[in-house]
Amino acid sequence: MANNEDIFKKVIAHAKEYGFVFQSSEIYDGLSAVYDYGQYGVELKNNIKDSWWKAMVQHHENIVGVDTAIFMHPTVWKASGHVDAFSDPMIDNKDSKKRYRADVLVEDYLAKLEGKINKEVSKAAKRFGDSFDKQQFITTNPRVLGYKEKTEEIKKRLYGAMDANDFEGIKTLIEDLEIACPVSGSRNWTDVRQFNLMFATQIGSLSEGASEIYLRPETAQGIFVNFLNVMKSGRMKVPFGIAQTGKAFRNEIVARQFIFRMREFEQMEMQFFVRPGEELKWFEYWKEERMKWHLSMGIPAENYRFHDHDKLAHYANAATDIEFNFPIGFKELEGIHSRTDFDLNAHQEYSGKKLQYFDPELDKSYVPYVVETSIGLDRTFLAVLSYSFTEEKLEDGSERVVMKIPPVLAPIKAAILPLVRKDGMPEKAREIMDKLKMDYMCQYDEKDAIGRRYRRQDAIGTPYCITVDHQTLEDNTVTIRERDSMKQERIPIEEIAQVIAKRLKA
Ligand code: GAP
Repeated sequence: MANNEDIFKKVIAHAKEYGFVFQSSEIYDGLSAVYDYGQYGVELKNNIKDSWWKAMVQHHENIVGVDTAIFMHPTVWKASGHVDAFSDPMIDNKDSKKRYRADVLVEDYLAKLEGKINKEVSKAAKRFGDSFDKQQFITTNPRVLGYKEKTEEIKKRLYGAMDANDFEGIKTLIEDLEIACPVSGSRNWTDVRQFNLMFATQIGSLSEGASEIYLRPETAQGIFVNFLNVMKSGRMKVPFGIAQTGKAFRNEIVARQFIFRMREFEQMEMQFFVRPGEELKWFEYWKEERMKWHLSMGIPAENYRFHDHDKLAHYANAATDIEFNFPIGFKELEGIHSRTDFDLNAHQEYSGKKLQYFDPELDKSYVPYVVETSIGLDRTFLAVLSYSFTEEKLEDGSERVVMKIPPVLAPIKAAILPLVRKDGMPEKAREIMDKLKMDYMCQYDEKDAIGRRYRRQDAIGTPYCITVDHQTLEDNTVTIRERDSMKQERIPIEEIAQVIAKRLKA
């Protein structure tokens, strides 16, 4: 069986070959960590975005959407803390010349310790069979306890050093753990240094006096600075939410994982404004609600897990990630953060404008607390793509690659295929296509043998293939082939739209 790294490579190659994702500016040898979406990629991306927008804005009467500008007043990023603190501690290996996030090197080491614990548990589960008590094992087994103790000690040192901006301490930890560069294998490290992740550019012509502004590193601040506008113009009552999707930019140093970590990417964020003191209740609500959305897409639950933060940002009083089982392991897909009143307070202070809500029930004004849900659109795309990629050996010995994309998200919902290019079949198929395309993204294809056409549709994840054959000309029925089972059924032409609609809902 191929290992996960091989699968990841295959997913990337497939994404390119079938028009999902291309390297940006590829004919000029590409631009690192920047990607373009192709003809099928853009459809899948839009479908994910639509599903999120419906779940957040359409289905919640107290959430509205906005679309704010990428450029913002430079003071926004001073107030939000990004100018002073949006930086990563980086370390270089002197032999490979590769740069790493110092904390991630240590976290990878911790993940290995967790792997060792899991190995002990599964060995013991096998040994003890039905009588195995996992809870007892992990609280008494000396080896597991040893790993756990080591984990806690490392975490304490790492997070202590990060909180205190003690770069020397992080470097010493890396040295003490004897962490080697994955590329050169050496432990020849530079000092740890901070790198700000924001891209800066100039606004205004030089004669007017240009000033430096940033490309936004998150969409959230566009929501905070419009809090008053939306609250007043929409007559919003706490609790209420503001959602938006849009591009964000970060000068990521470690950017080698395809669309997992990009320099230009898209976020889908929602800030939920609540009464102070009620934020943890809403935090729990949004944790559950967001997980429900992920599961509603049809990817099995074992691919998701929560990861509560041990180390909270200075403005947060609770934070969790929803992690997905990517081919590169379980990694963050979405963050849910209880951000207190930090952002609104900071903007109030820097702008001099009151950012408060008058609560008629409490008969007083306050700065609302905020629970944020923040998900990467590209990461969700990668989750769907990597989950869907399936290589199958068929009964007749042949092989097929099929993208088992959840049907509601599939770029093309139905392909219309005349069995042969004569006897009036193309004309009939065109008639069906012209009707169906009014409701669904469809594709007409008459080139090559029918088996090859089915494979092409499998490779882009089309859930239904409609074939017009000799019988169609006699009784106005077609076959509908289901992608995953490859089963075919005969149905009347006038029922095609209904059958597809029903299956897309199932
Ligand atoms: N407003 C909060 C915020 O931006 P974050 O954890 O930095 O929080 C939220 O980012 C989400 O954005 C992440 O969970 C991830 O899905 C996505 N994301 C962050 N950086 C990314 C990058 N460089 N490339 C692709 N997606 C990214």
